[in-house]
Amino acid sequence: MSLLPDSAALDPAGRLSVGGLDLLALAELHGTPLFVYDEAHIRARCAEAVAAFGDGVAYATKAFLCKAMARLAYEEGMCLDVATGGELEVALAAGVPASRLVLHGNNKSEAEVARALDVGVGRIVVDSFDEIALIGRLTDSRASGDPRPRVLVRVTPGVEAHTHEFVRTGQEDTKFGFSVASGAATEAVAALELMGGVELVGVHAHIGSQVFDVESFESAAEVLGSFAVSLGLPELVIGGGLGVAYVHGEHAPSITEWAQATRAALANVGLPADIRVSAEPGRAIVASAAITLYRVGAIKELPGIRTYVAVDGGMSDNPRPVLYGSGYEAFLPREAAAERPRAVRIVGKHCETGDVVVDEAHVPADLAVGDVLATPVTGAYGYSMASNYNKVPRPPVVFVSRGEARVVVRGETVEDLLRLDA
Ligand code: LLP
Repeated sequence: MSLLPDSAALDPAGRLSVGGLDLLALAELHGTPLFVYDEAHIRARCAEAVAAFGDGVAYATKAFLCKAMARLAYEEGMCLDVATGGELEVALAAGVPASRLVLHGNNKSEAEVARALDVGVGRIVVDSFDEIALIGRLTDSRASGDPRPRVLVRVTPGVEAHTHEFVRTGQEDTKFGFSVASGAATEAVAALELMGGVELVGVHAHIGSQVFDVESFESAAEVLGSFAVSLGLPELVIGGGLGVAYVHGEHAPSITEWAQATRAALANVGLPADIRVSAEPGRAIVASAAITLYRVGAIKELPGIRTYVAVDGGMSDNPRPVLYGSGYEAFLPREAAAERPRAVRIVGKHCETGDVVVDEAHVPADLAVGDVLATPVTGAYGYSMASNYNKVPRPPVVFVSRGEARVVVRGETVEDLLRLDA
């Protein structure tokens, strides 16, 4: 149950509901695969982030973004971290004021920076000397009365977070940010301070994603904090990256614990209390808010080898197992608390062996073709990294709350698959 959304509940027969709605009924109505998000769960995590960090804390939209999600995070008092022009446009289309947006990216295009300046994004996190030059050119050509964009410098604290190497970003060997150790960060600060067109407000670091150990964040906070103390700038952002539990037996710190540990580490290095300390969690806000529902279409028992259970989605709606070897749990919403003695491999419908949903799953003994099968903790980097591989349409996304479901992203159709063809 600890991996399920906050509002998950079992009825007397053992059937699982989320947001007051029976999951099997949702699968019947909307089809499978289906992403089901518990809206109250997301709201609660946003509220926790705002309470823990205060104004300025941003939701990292790369984890999951659609207009409804952008609006929800904004309504709950969060800013939004947008890492591309596309994420920026979705947030604006949702009605989020540009002043609540933070623009990221290690290779922002001229068009992206120009658009950010035109709409007046709240913050730009600067990542390279080439970007400093680009912002310089664009701000020089603006009218003298235009407001100056507020910028932060992204630095690499030289901390190797304990996580998958693909999502580790705080070490020296990285494409992101300016190294503190090499002096590049100091140089970047000096360059921005000399530029009349921008207002340098702070420093930023992001050490990686799916990080469980608070010590990695504390180490990064110490480096970042010491650097910030010497600069006397009013803002500091410790990035995102707080891990979440995906499988039984994993435990992650809460957003509140993460904030407390970081603040303590910053205080230890003498960061003044009036500096605005902020963060930008993505996964910790949305991951465990969602469940993916699939339908089982084929079961293949290979004697002496293993049993394959094939579902109607796979690497197109969740590429994380094939990309990072990520593990998930699987269960049957029709009897969610049932014993799961049967070891199987759950696979998708794509044309490759790597198309695994759960490599070593345990399922109830009576699992059968036609069953709806659920994987929890799919709310982050599932839909947002979904693809049309094998021309599989992306599934719909529903938000459920207090007995009502609303489709926030409709499922793709064959027309959508053909939309871009000349
Ligand atoms: N801030 C920055 C600058 C980031 O690069 C990221 C994530 C975040 C915040 C949010 O991190 P979070 O709190 O969600 O861990 N696709 C991978 C994760 C990639 C994360 C990229 N950057 C996965 O599925 O595990």
